[in-house]
Amino acid sequence: MAEQRHTLTVITPEQTVTLDVPDGANLRQTLLKAGISPHGTLSRYANCGGRGLCATCGVWIEENEPAPQHWHDRIGAAFGYPRLSCQIDVHAPLTVRLVPNKIMWGKPERARRYRARPVE
Ligand code: FES
Repeated sequence: MAEQRHTLTVITPEQTVTLDVPDGANLRQTLLKAGISPHGTLSRYANCGGRGLCATCGVWIEENEPAPQHWHDRIGAAFGYPRLSCQIDVHAPLTVRLVPNKIMWGKPERARRYRARPVE
């Protein structure tokens, strides 16, 4: 059986990159392998290595937002912070946007917080 693959679209401040990734690929590792760091200038060197502890690998999910699986990522999603790329495995086509001007964690965006909640 052929390996299932997905399109990962990454929007950076400079360009939009499309990657073809295997099912289950870790988002942070995939970005780093492609030379696209989800980290800021300092956290590029000082981070938890993908353990879900430092919250410096956040990205905005633009399309097909997966449900958070990790407690830290659930809190971030609930309060409108960027999602932890190290805690997301790609199981469907996904579009993410890097957080521009990231100093450390990135700021919450009120509109995104409301958009993430189901409309009744
Ligand atoms: S790399 Fe530390 S939380 Fe993702």
